[in-house]
Amino acid sequence: MKTLKVLDLFAGGGGFSTGFLQADYPNCNFEITKAVELDPAACETLRGHLGKDRVIQGDITLSSVKQKIYKSCKDIDVVIGGPPCQTFSLAGPSRSGSKEMREKLKKDSRNTLYKHFFEIVDHLKPDFVVFENVEGMLSKKIDGADGLMNKQVQVIELICDELESKGYTTNIENSISERFQVLNAADYGVPQHRRRIIIIANRLELENPKLEPTHGFGHNSYNTTEAIKHLPIRLPRISLSDKLKNIDVVKDNYEKVLSLFVENIKDLATKENNSGSKQGIIELSERLNEEFMLIKNKKSYKLHNLSKFIKLYNELVIELGINNYMDNQPFNNHQSREHNFRDIIIFIGTRPGSNSSRFMKPDSDDYDELLDALYPYNKNKHKDTYVKHSWDKPSNTILAHMEKDGLKFIHPEQPRSLTPYEAQLLQSFPEDYIFCGGRNEQYRQIGNAVPPKLAEVVGGSILSLHQQAKGCDSSFASAFTK
Ligand SMILES: C[S@@+](CC[C@H](N)C(=O)[O-])C[C@H]1O[C@@H](n2cnc3c(N)ncnc32)[C@H](O)[C@@H]1O
Repeated sequence: MKTLKVLDLFAGGGGFSTGFLQADYPNCNFEITKAVELDPAACETLRGHLGKDRVIQGDITLSSVKQKIYKSCKDIDVVIGGPPCQTFSLAGPSRSGSKEMREKLKKDSRNTLYKHFFEIVDHLKPDFVVFENVEGMLSKKIDGADGLMNKQVQVIELICDELESKGYTTNIENSISERFQVLNAADYGVPQHRRRIIIIANRLELENPKLEPTHGFGHNSYNTTEAIKHLPIRLPRISLSDKLKNIDVVKDNYEKVLSLFVENIKDLATKENNSGSKQGIIELSERLNEEFMLIKNKKSYKLHNLSKFIKLYNELVIELGINNYMDNQPFNNHQSREHNFRDIIIFIGTRPGSNSSRFMKPDSDDYDELLDALYPYNKNKHKDTYVKHSWDKPSNTILAHMEKDGLKFIHPEQPRSLTPYEAQLLQSFPEDYIFCGGRNEQYRQIGNAVPPKLAEVVGGSILSLHQQAKGCDSSFASAFTK
């Protein structure tokens, strides 16, 4: 068995490493020799999975950290990594924010982190390099070598040139000009649409593998959010403050919003009944329904009654132990964040697979007068603030932004946004993978990760290329060896 040694730079919570460890090829596999990461919680996660001696916690830009890397990684075969992408991201403000914000981002040191990646590559000279980044990087340009504004160069081309100048081939097999690939993780079996740039480069003078989709049109059908359907129900704690934006709309639609909520819990109780699980939702539903019958026709003190109703709900969720059901490893991060009652009604009212831009558009089939009135943000700016997932499609791109709010990640049936554990499964992390840190730190590690299933395909293609190059795979060796 030949084991290729891997150095994972900007390793985050370990998505890239996990996929490489899963990659499988006859007589050949990977070990992660070192993973380098700055964030303490992510390092803790890495230590748990790779072992504490394999993690270098520190800032890659520091020469002391580089020395540690050089000392412990003398015969590395593969360097993998995705320098932070915030400033390249299509989801970030780099393309749409104010002029001031764009100027600030230009100076952001995260824009040049990739240079340290290549400095380390140049020092270690591994046979293979894999560079991953967000699709938004394609539109990123910087001033050319002479510093003239009209000599702007696409960063991605610069990176390929840089690799070529260091003796690497970036060319992709059967292509004259392609040097990088834009891959959608869903095309490789991940239950999530996530488009990322991958550059594979080697110093063996071989053409690099083109990764062919295995899922999607003409292949296996996409894996969908059904990947999280088997998980126990989780219910959020709910808040209601009279300072909440559009609280007057909630109050004016008192009976309707209460009824929407009670019906949603009733639907979940029916599911519990059908599945035979004993999570307590049936009792919750009955007791909330009793209270609803008592207060639904009240003409005054509506906010007071709503508050009392929500307090009862919060107490019952705890009393009935609903969120403790199967609350053991690895489900310990399968817990919902708190939501306010207005958002809960928007979650329930939005059709699965739809979003706020549709429920606010009068000529859309999904138009909903109540939801339109409840929408609390600037309607001209952020129309798709709320996005509800559906069981029959891959999820939207899981983002590190989930640490701030989960409004773009609404569960298809339950009145809440996705839990970290659900995000982990939609990113194709193994069921028993444990993320360290608090909930927000976990969302960040998960949202930043290369989906292991996609990394596994990339890793497999490198193992295959390596074996062919070394003549271990006789059927291909002649085609690849120059
Ligand atoms: C896009 S994430 C990488 C995700 C990772 N490849 C995975 O698959 O899980 C980028 C990571 O780089 C780390 N980082 C940012 N600046 C760094 C620096 N100067 N030195 C080391 N790590 C850094 C961030 O903490 C973040 O975890």
